[in-house]
Amino acid sequence: MTQIDFNDRALSLGLARVSEAAAIACAPLIGRGDEKAADQAAVDAMRTQLNKLDISGVVVIGEGERDEAPMLYIGEEVGNGTGPGVDIALDPLEGTTLTAKDMPNALAVIAMGPRGSMLHAPDTYMDKLAIGPGYAAGVVSLDMTPTERVQALAKAKGCTTANITVCVLERPRHEDIIAEIRATGAAIRLITDGDVAGVMHCAEAAKTGIDMYMGSGGAPEGVLAAAALKCMGGQIMGRLLFRNEDEKARALKAGITDFDRVYLRDDMVTADVIFAATGVTDGSLVSGIKREVGFVTAETILMRSKTGSVRRMIYRNPV
Ligand code: FBP
Repeated sequence: MTQIDFNDRALSLGLARVSEAAAIACAPLIGRGDEKAADQAAVDAMRTQLNKLDISGVVVIGEGERDEAPMLYIGEEVGNGTGPGVDIALDPLEGTTLTAKDMPNALAVIAMGPRGSMLHAPDTYMDKLAIGPGYAAGVVSLDMTPTERVQALAKAKGCTTANITVCVLERPRHEDIIAEIRATGAAIRLITDGDVAGVMHCAEAAKTGIDMYMGSGGAPEGVLAAAALKCMGGQIMGRLLFRNEDEKARALKAGITDFDRVYLRDDMVTADVIFAATGVTDGSLVSGIKREVGFVTAETILMRSKTGSVRRMIYRNPV
């Protein structure tokens, strides 16, 4: 069989359509208090649109294992089967609670790369650390304490620790990290959900005000965030966290044997990738879905790591 090249340029607009469709589909459910319905609407629409693409895709990061997710499960084949073999990482609705409560930064997210290029991250937590572009490799690391990370980044940025802002998920498990960061004098942007957006904020620090992301969140979201930073520039590193034997078994099933490994951005996404995210609710990176009588408007950020191109596209369509 002839191997078809992963033509990221030609496929990128198609990918934007996929995240647009997911975001628009869950728009009527913004602020309605029903996480599940919003997620389902996004999943259905994303899958329908994805299956129109000329790819032989396989979902690597998806809605869950086959027995727990009927659609867009890990290992599901997607696309119309006529194009290149690709890996797909997706989260049709990243921030289900944000959407249900109409809070900022809910996104529909999808990334695509050549087959075999994405880490098969199990559905466990990952300890994450991310910063934006322009810093030397390894200026901060997971082995440093939160204090050391803030101090190292401030030194590299040429400012005091008081001028650093760190984004952290507001969770009881992060109380110690939060206290330690505050003690350095740095500011903290607490988010209630949505750490893909949290990490992406680091790549546009001047706009978002966020210099660094740290703390634990979903491992699948870590791979999506790595795909985003591979396009935008910046560093992310992550270490899987296991709460029980079942989670270790999930990792083994995904082919992971070194449970302590630190994955750098390019370990999580090893080849060029395209990434699309459409705003569901308003956020600092993209606006959310706007509904006027007769029209719906969506904003998508579409990026290619090969060129470092970042497009923001506004789509308006009659409804
Ligand atoms: P959902 O969209 O599935 O609700 O997840 C959102 C999220 O906030 C992620 O961005 C994050 O990685 C994860 O949940 C954190 O998990 P937890 O809520 O268990 O701390």
